[in-house]
Amino acid sequence: MGLFSLPALFGKHIAMDLGSANTLIHLRGEGIVLNEPSLIAWNIWDKKVVAVGSEAQALLGRTPQHIEIIRPLKGGIIADFTMAKAMIRHFFKKVKKGYALLKPTVLISTPSDISAIGKKAIRETIVKVGGSRVQLIAEPIASAIGAELDIRANHARMLVNIGSGTTEIAVFFHGSTAYSDLLKQAGDEITETLNRYLLEEHNAKIGEVTAEKCKATIGSAWDSPKIDMTMPLTVKDLDTGTPKELQIAAQPLRQALQEPLHELARGINTALDNLPETLLVDIRNDGLLLCGGGSLLHGLETMLSQECQLPCLRCNDPLLNTVRGCGIVLENTKQYRSFLLP
Ligand SMILES: Nc1ncnc2c1ncn2[C@@H]1O[C@H](COP(=O)(O)OP(=O)(O)O)[C@@H](O)[C@H]1O
Ligand SMILES: [Mg+2]
Repeated sequence: MGLFSLPALFGKHIAMDLGSANTLIHLRGEGIVLNEPSLIAWNIWDKKVVAVGSEAQALLGRTPQHIEIIRPLKGGIIADFTMAKAMIRHFFKKVKKGYALLKPTVLISTPSDISAIGKKAIRETIVKVGGSRVQLIAEPIASAIGAELDIRANHARMLVNIGSGTTEIAVFFHGSTAYSDLLKQAGDEITETLNRYLLEEHNAKIGEVTAEKCKATIGSAWDSPKIDMTMPLTVKDLDTGTPKELQIAAQPLRQALQEPLHELARGINTALDNLPETLLVDIRNDGLLLCGGGSLLHGLETMLSQECQLPCLRCNDPLLNTVRGCGIVLENTKQYRSFLLP
């Protein structure tokens, strides 16, 4: 071997799930090398970046007023161009190994309804932070491939990807998307409902990290074995402004979370109503596959199975399936070329 090995000379091609809540990166030939919150902390006085990803998350709730922590993406679209650029540049630097002569190709999943302006923003951002060619793939397709859903089958398949800001519903048939819809009921709305419940029932406020932990530990959509659990929480009492200890019980919390979950089920039922009978028959038989971090809520499959009257299964590792799908497409571009967005 000469001075440089071949992969070093050509750089590593990158597949990326640039989510509003989490960013994941797959390096060609290596697999998933980065999984961090899509967060950036910056100093509003001198405009300098203070921390990115997990390091920014560690600062949540403990920063002085001149440090702001934001999510530069909303609903899978770049909302803050400058901050998104700084965040992605940091992530690329983190996964880049050694010296490369050529810039990498970057394959990214985007919401299926992304506008031409949204696509342009992503392409320009990636080129500015060191990508060469940018390839886009609709997130439902990447998620389905990563969840091992056979989207080329000659019977219809349904995927429901519950992310942070949106839930994407997609029906695939013969390798194309026969139906898609976007709902606003997703992980963030469940967390907001939990926060509202604590405020109204306990006059209490908690930080973002505690709310996520509480949702994952005792949040539920159905009477699972966890339903008798309680969880100790240190909250801020809004009357006194001081911390107090609370025991949050799973059962009343489940009641409180019902409304957005019913809305989610209603959205899925509307999608089912809109499907042509021929596709609906297949979906009613095979059921639907849930993915995305929001699908991790305890008992959600059971609740949706009941409310939508069809089998609902959750894929393995629902926080990873989108980047996995992007990675599979990157590693086998010839086989999957037809799925890339023009
Ligand atoms: N164990 C869990 N229980 C309930 N919700 C969860 C759990 N883990 C993650 N989530 C939720 O999943 C969402 C993030 O999922 P993800 O698929 O990464 O979103 P995005 O694609 O928007 O970045 C968040 O709303 C988070 O609260
Ligand atoms: Mg996602």
